[in-house]
Amino acid sequence: MGSFDNLLLQLDEAVTGLFKQWNIWTSLIVTLFIGFITYQISTRQDPDIHPFLLARQSQASPVRQPKESSVYRPQAAPHGLPLHTGLNVKDPGANKWARGRDGDLRDIWRQAIAGVQEGDDKGAKGRILTVEGTESVKEHDLDALTRQINLIGQHLLNQGGNRVAIYLPNSVELIVTLFACAFYNLTAIVLPFNQADDAVISMLRRSAADSVVTAPGSFPFDTVIKSYPSLRQLVWVVDEGSKHMDWNEVPQGTGSKVNVSTWQDIINDSPIDAGKSLPPLENQPEPKDVTIFWQQANNQQEEMVKFTSGNIVSAIAAQLTAIPTARRLGPSDLFLPADSLANSHTLVLTLTALFSNSSVAFNSSAPSAPSLSVILSSSAVSPTVIAATPAALLATQKEVSSSLKKSTIGKDLHWLLSRSLVETGAFPSGGFLTNYYNQAFRPSFPGGKKLRLVYTAERIGGGGTERLTGEQLNDLRLITGARVVYALTAAKVAGAVAQTNVYDYRGGEHFGPPVASVEVLLRDLGDVRNNDEKSQGEIVVRGPAVVGKEAGLGVPACIRDDHTIALI
Ligand SMILES: *[C@@H]1O[C@H](CO)[C@@H](O)[C@H](O)[C@H]1NC(C)=O
Ligand SMILES: *[C@@H]1O[C@H](CO)[C@@H](O)[C@H](O)[C@H]1NC(C)=O
Ligand SMILES: *[C@@H]1O[C@H](CO)[C@@H](O)[C@H](O)[C@H]1NC(C)=O
Ligand SMILES: *[C@@H]1O[C@H](CO)[C@@H](O)[C@H](O)[C@H]1NC(C)=O
Repeated sequence: MGSFDNLLLQLDEAVTGLFKQWNIWTSLIVTLFIGFITYQISTRQDPDIHPFLLARQSQASPVRQPKESSVYRPQAAPHGLPLHTGLNVKDPGANKWARGRDGDLRDIWRQAIAGVQEGDDKGAKGRILTVEGTESVKEHDLDALTRQINLIGQHLLNQGGNRVAIYLPNSVELIVTLFACAFYNLTAIVLPFNQADDAVISMLRRSAADSVVTAPGSFPFDTVIKSYPSLRQLVWVVDEGSKHMDWNEVPQGTGSKVNVSTWQDIINDSPIDAGKSLPPLENQPEPKDVTIFWQQANNQQEEMVKFTSGNIVSAIAAQLTAIPTARRLGPSDLFLPADSLANSHTLVLTLTALFSNSSVAFNSSAPSAPSLSVILSSSAVSPTVIAATPAALLATQKEVSSSLKKSTIGKDLHWLLSRSLVETGAFPSGGFLTNYYNQAFRPSFPGGKKLRLVYTAERIGGGGTERLTGEQLNDLRLITGARVVYALTAAKVAGAVAQTNVYDYRGGEHFGPPVASVEVLLRDLGDVRNNDEKSQGEIVVRGPAVVGKEAGLGVPACIRDDHTIALI
């Protein structure tokens, strides 16, 4: 293989150098040659999914209401069966054959610390990691995190807390506070991080927060105290280096009665044995709402959305079934959220990973990274699954495409492999042309060696200007060697509204079928009207993942012939 590679590389250089002027002819000859070989090889690879299943991706109701389309359901939750509402949790001692509970946020943490109970992976548990700087990674002991959940929850509650704003970058403390709220009857309010001072104050006011968990340096404490007197307590998450400073001081001259403590003091000043076990399963109130702020385009005010625990678990249930068993997240996966956890889609995927016994790594600076190559620039962690913004993916697609243009063979090979992806429906996984492409032309991201699945999402009204085409998604599949799932997300729907099938490489711009926690219909909107041939109109979503059970999303869409959803 090695000497053959060298030969091809030399050939590439020779061809590129020699025939620069007659690029069209070189391209043609090389294309025909390689095309012949690829044809020989790829005809032997079966498609990843039967084409029949991609030709009809959702099920239409037989009748439709006036001014509406049929109601579309995914194949996983067809008409006549309930949409997926929860996690199907089987408590110890419960009847093995009965349907399990829907469960709530607390069951996700219970599953994460229990790990795999049976089968080949028995005993395996997900690990929780924090990426510190570019080189080092810290692993958190799960029992220590359980203790933090208890101690932080009890502290917030004992100080009279009720509505807890979390203003933190992607971090283990964010997730711990979220679970602390679920276990201790507190409302969690997850604020988008790195916002202007007045935006932070406005979000605190609108959500009526009485407590804040945040980090020094990012939270405008002085200003908040002056303009938001309802704040009663604040918990600083301080880093190792500055934990000996006195953080308990309240800004002078304000006469404020805010109780201030640090996360580290709450944990370290408690007796060693305190907080070791979670509150019992029985006789506990349902967790309260989780409030998030959906950031909108053009500096419009964020939309405040209150998700019930039921909204969130149904969204997780839908993610669990959206991926075929062979590709589902499991104990050997490491999930990295490279988009903000204040987005419900990223949060739901992270919770799905925890519930699936996968490991999760938090990199507080990843969400602001401009491209995938920056997110995966360090080999300190090698995630298998990531969630990233369309903008970060598009930037990478552009970087790589322009560097591929420099090589005739690289460009042609890329073109051929992406044709083969579209036409054979088989993810290129072997054969010497694929290997050659991977070794000679695929960019090697130091942290991307194990990447197998990339989640990304369009946010309706979210100001994302980058929309990915089917061809760009295929480029990204070849560039990363990972499958890509493209979702449509909206403020009032936990997780995703719809998302592409993980095996759908056919190209075209669409967002796949609805996920199993919602059904979708289209309602006449201005000139965009339904008729017997065409389903088109405003997207209306119903189901257990939707706030208030039903929401119109305000944007026009159509259902394509393959029963996938496309924005117009
Ligand atoms: C995680 O572990 C639980 C308990 O054994 C098991 O029911 C579940 O199937 C596991 N999930 C995955 C994705 O392996
Ligand atoms: C501060 O905490 C103490 C208990 O530690 C509580 O009695 C007091 O009411 C709290 N102050 C405020 C403003 O909530
Ligand atoms: C939970 O909090 C609410 C107030 O928000 C209170 O009315 C209720 O009694 C609390 N439940 C328990 C079991 O503490
Ligand atoms: C964390 O994210 C930053 C910014 O995206 C990146 O530069 C860094 O390499 C990442 N660190 C690791 C270990 O992945």
